[in-house]
Amino acid sequence: MRVTRIIEMLEVTEAAALAAGRWMGRGAKDAADSAAVDAMRAAFDSINISGEIVIGEGERDEAPMLYIGEHVGAGGQEIDIAVDPLEGTNLTAYGQPNALSVMAFGPKGTLLNAPDTYMLKVATGPIAAEAVHIDATPTENVHAVANSLKRPVGDIVVCILDRERHEDLIAEVRDAGARIRLISDGDVFGAVATAIEGTGIHLYLGIGAAPEGVLAAAAMRCIGGQFMGRFRFRNDEERARAERMAKCDIDDVLDMDCLVATDQAAFIATGVTDGELLRGVKYFGQGSRTHSVAMDASTGTVRFVETVFKTGEEPFWVRRD
Ligand code: FBP
Repeated sequence: MRVTRIIEMLEVTEAAALAAGRWMGRGAKDAADSAAVDAMRAAFDSINISGEIVIGEGERDEAPMLYIGEHVGAGGQEIDIAVDPLEGTNLTAYGQPNALSVMAFGPKGTLLNAPDTYMLKVATGPIAAEAVHIDATPTENVHAVANSLKRPVGDIVVCILDRERHEDLIAEVRDAGARIRLISDGDVFGAVATAIEGTGIHLYLGIGAAPEGVLAAAAMRCIGGQFMGRFRFRNDEERARAERMAKCDIDDVLDMDCLVATDQAAFIATGVTDGELLRGVKYFGQGSRTHSVAMDASTGTVRFVETVFKTGEEPFWVRRD
C-alpha cells in the first residue's frame, strides 16, 4: 500500500527550499529557518493527507508552527510526518554546501517520536549494511565497511561532524587508516550520502541531533542501508521527555525497527545549497529550479527530480542540464 502520493508531498520540501534559498549567504540563520518553516507549513494545506508532526520544530509551547503533535494537511490518509524544513541553518546562512529541506513519513504510529536530544549514530549504505554496529568500535566499523566494499581501508571515507566531542573518534578513525570528511553541520546529508554512489562517503559516525537521526533512518529504510543509534541525553529532563515520547527502550540500541517501524516509509529532500547529493535552488528572474530526491520504501524507488517553476511573465526555455 502506498502511504501517499510522493510527488504531491515533494511540493512541501520544494516550497521550503525555495523560501530558504533566498537567504543563502546572508548571515541570517533564523530568518532562513523561519522562511522555510512558513513555506512548508503553508504547502501542507493543499496536500490531501491527515498528517501528524512527530518530529518538527519543537514542543507546542516553543514552536508556533510544525510543532510536535500538530495536525497538517487538507484531510486524507492518516500518516506520521517528520520534518526539518531547513537542515543546515548555518550552512544556508554562510552559503556552504549540503543544506537541505527534509521530510519523512510513514503510516500512523510508525516513526519514532524522538525528543530534541543527542544520538550516537552509525550509518552506511546497502552493501555494508549488515556489517556495522552501533556498539562496535570506530576501528571495527571502518574495517567492516572496507571488507564489505572490498577496498583497502585507505579508500574509505568517514563523514563526521566537526565538534570537540568527536576528538577521540576522529583520532581513532585516522589511526585506523581511513580518510575523513569533516562537516560543520548537516548530518542527515552525512548519513544518507553513505548510500548514494558518487558522494564519496562510505560511513557516517558520531553524535548529532536525535530528530535528524529518525529522518536519516527513514532514508536508509527506503534504500536498504543501515542506520543505528543510541540516545545520548544531556540531562534528566531530556531523558524524561524521551521516556514520555519514545515507544521503544530508550536505553537500548535504536535500530531501524524502532526508528522507522514500517516498510512503507518515504523520505524526501530538496537541496537548498549545492552539494554532493543535490544541487541547490537556482533563481533566474523568470523562474526558479529545485533538485530533490524522493525515496519510497514500498516500491523501492529512488527518484531524483528537477522542477522548474515559472514565476515571471516573460517566456523562457526550460534548459535540461
Ligand atoms: P541546524 O538545526 O542549525 O540546521 O543544525 C543541524 C545540525 O547540524 C544537524 O545536522 C546535527 O545533527 C546537529 O545540528 C548537531 O548539533 P550540534 O550543533 O549541537 O552539534
